[in-house]
Amino acid sequence: MPAPNSAFDPVEVVAALAPAEVARRRDEALAAVAAAADLDALKAVRLAHAGDRSPLALANREIGAQPPQAKADAGKRVGAARRAVVEALTTRQVELEVERDARVLVEEAVDVTLPWDRVPRGARHPLTTIQERIADVFVAMGYEVAEGPEVEHEWFNFDALNFRRDHPARELQDTLFVEPMGSGVVMRTHTSPVQVRALLERDLPVYVVCPGRTFRADALDATHTPVFSQVEGLAVDEGITMGHLKGTLDAFAAAMFGVGVSTRLRPSYFPFTEPSAEVDLRCFVCRGSSTEPGGAPCRTCSSEGWIEWGGCGMVNPNVLRACGVDPDRYSGFAFGMGLERTLMFRHDIADMRDLVDGDVRFTLAFGMEA
Ligand code: PHE
Repeated sequence: MPAPNSAFDPVEVVAALAPAEVARRRDEALAAVAAAADLDALKAVRLAHAGDRSPLALANREIGAQPPQAKADAGKRVGAARRAVVEALTTRQVELEVERDARVLVEEAVDVTLPWDRVPRGARHPLTTIQERIADVFVAMGYEVAEGPEVEHEWFNFDALNFRRDHPARELQDTLFVEPMGSGVVMRTHTSPVQVRALLERDLPVYVVCPGRTFRADALDATHTPVFSQVEGLAVDEGITMGHLKGTLDAFAAAMFGVGVSTRLRPSYFPFTEPSAEVDLRCFVCRGSSTEPGGAPCRTCSSEGWIEWGGCGMVNPNVLRACGVDPDRYSGFAFGMGLERTLMFRHDIADMRDLVDGDVRFTLAFGMEA
């Protein structure tokens, strides 16, 4: 009987496949998995201990070259070790995901019981709300709200409104011209160019109200601002008379300042209306009592009984003609008021700059008034 071939021991394998080495690599991997504190760390552990270049994967590659018996044993050993590592990785992955989810829930929690309404919300500017209020008053009377550009052509701002070429209002101290000089483009100095646009764009009869921003070369002080707001009203129809104008202004005044607050017209001049008038408002505080003998003085109207409110008149036939409207058939009235001034006496605001500053402590006092 030949002696066993001790030079060829089928169970003796390369070092990397030896049971102790495989066990050491497995334990190393399991320890690393257990030590991974978060998902990023676990990802690195997975690469190092279960990736293609990991010690156990490399050992696995040696198996094919082993003799049959050693191959089977080593295959089982390495296979079991690698399964143990993958299993540990899977378990740890789930643990860490649960931990992360729990942490995210805590860290990103929104406490819906916190008092959100303590965050200051600001307030709408009174110039905005008064424009809406005025629009409401006129829409209720059947008017439409019209708009026009703030950067306007001289023809709309002046020529079509019957301003002569040499009218002083065109000069630099009043009008902001847009460069280059001679461009014919100005910052509109009033809302009246919207009268022209409305008449050119719309079919007759026309009933429009136009609140908007206007510009003049004035320095900012307590009673002037270079950027201010006006509201323009225009009615052009057959048979419109000054009586309609007066009635409309009285209805407007009552809607803004209280029932019974009426208006008074004083003769005046505007190129685009004929006849023209200044509109005065009955003082809505003293209602004229401050002018009577023994009447208490009134701060709102300086005891005048009336407050200057705006301008108005019957649309000049030249304006109607410039807009293609036959003045023999149609007539109209127009009026325009400054909104900053209106707000100042309506709310007893002493300094116009408060209306311009945009300081929320000022606007808040007006709250969300509609
Ligand atoms: N546009 C005039 C102004 O700015 C006001 C006005 C409007 C006067 C309409 C009469 C008619 O002073």
